[in-house]
Amino acid sequence: MSDHARGGDITVKAVTGLPEFRPGDDLAGAIADAAPWLQDGDVLVVTSKVVSKVEGRLVTVPADADARDAERRRLVEAEAVRVVARINRTLITENKLGIVQAASGIDASNVAGDELALLPENPDASALALRKGIHARLGVDVAVVITDTMGRAWRVGQTDAAIGSSGLTVLHKYAGQIDRQGNELVVTEVAVADEIAAAADLVKGKTGGVPVAVLRGLSVTDDGSTAADLIRPLEQDLFRLGTEESLAQGRSEAVLMRRSARFYTDEPIPEDAIRKAVGVALTAPAPHHTRPVRFVHVKERRKELLDAMRAQWRADLANDGWSAERIDRRVRRGDLLYGAKEIILPFLVREGAHTYPDPQRSQAERTMFTIAGGAAVQGLLVALAAEGIGSCWVSSTIFCAPVVREVLGLPAEWEPLGAVAVGYPTDGPLTPRPPRDPADAFMEL
Ligand SMILES: Cc1cc2nc3c(=O)[nH]c(=O)nc-3n(C[C@H](O)[C@H](O)[C@H](O)COP(=O)(O)O)c2cc1C
Repeated sequence: MSDHARGGDITVKAVTGLPEFRPGDDLAGAIADAAPWLQDGDVLVVTSKVVSKVEGRLVTVPADADARDAERRRLVEAEAVRVVARINRTLITENKLGIVQAASGIDASNVAGDELALLPENPDASALALRKGIHARLGVDVAVVITDTMGRAWRVGQTDAAIGSSGLTVLHKYAGQIDRQGNELVVTEVAVADEIAAAADLVKGKTGGVPVAVLRGLSVTDDGSTAADLIRPLEQDLFRLGTEESLAQGRSEAVLMRRSARFYTDEPIPEDAIRKAVGVALTAPAPHHTRPVRFVHVKERRKELLDAMRAQWRADLANDGWSAERIDRRVRRGDLLYGAKEIILPFLVREGAHTYPDPQRSQAERTMFTIAGGAAVQGLLVALAAEGIGSCWVSSTIFCAPVVREVLGLPAEWEPLGAVAVGYPTDGPLTPRPPRDPADAFMEL
């Protein structure tokens, strides 16, 4: 078989005259009575709601709206193995069957006002049982599809999909086949059971009390697959993390994404990414509600600045009695800022610091502001890392503050807090590292 559609006509017929089902009712018997015309090769499509009803998957809920809502929420969570997304008040969950759906498939439509319907426990088994039941009563071999209504990712509106099936190949794989234009159909896999479910819904509808329809004219084959095979395995799911889990993972990994990257690619850093990271950094805590941190993105004066800093460094080392050769070697190792794609200099301005008559408290106040500067710089590094941008915080400007202020024309009270080299790391994208074992750096006293 090269195609699941023969190219001929398919008819979709509503099965009318079915009763209102209650737990324990004989579904196969009722369908056989209402559709004695069923033939071999027909596909019997049944709304899961009636399967839920006859299988007793109805839950009585309180009449009071709030209590009813609370019970509904409890049931949604009880039926879920995982919350994929929380959109306003709607939970998208993966239920015990592996189906990802709003509200774990729990539904209040077409049931009594004080009831909710849970999905059938094992819809594939229900489909098989119904198929056997129809065969026992009418002597015909039909395929059975049990459907539920679902929203679709990236699409507005719902369609019916197969949540249970028996007796038909659920997935038609075109891989390797050639279309009329000579193109090989490499990835096309048609979810035939879902298409059948959607087609049947055109005659069943949602309000007309027609929960069963029959498709006739399909070229039905049976490879033993069932609707469960339409659930994409987690490891093949490009979007396996739901919104909720993605956000939680992002939050937990933000700080761990940062590491010192010292070599950078030529790829430009978007200016707005830097502005955004600075904005994030400026939310760092600071004493007395002050805002003591400034950032300077050094552009035109960069070479002049680095050369002047290097000259000062050489002078300092010469003053320490180092040989010219040793100074050369040491200074060459400190070239990181020359190779950075961008450089951002953090500064501390002790505006709003309190004054004290004694040196001890004055020093404490200084420390307080200094550490606030550190918090902001770490914030910058983490914010850059969150954008995939590498950085390395280096100390050099702290050791030559007057030179930095002079070259950049900054006020005397601006204290450099080092320099941040910025760029995309050459050794690949930033990835989160595991947290450290707190070990003896953490104690409870
Ligand atoms: C205040 C400060 C000054 C630093 N100065 C330098 C520096 O001058 N050169 C350098 O390569 N790294 C410098 N670092 C980065 C540390 O070496 C780096 O954080 C450490 O190696 C740990 O690596 P990680 O950042 O990847 O966790 C400095 C870090 C801080 C906080």
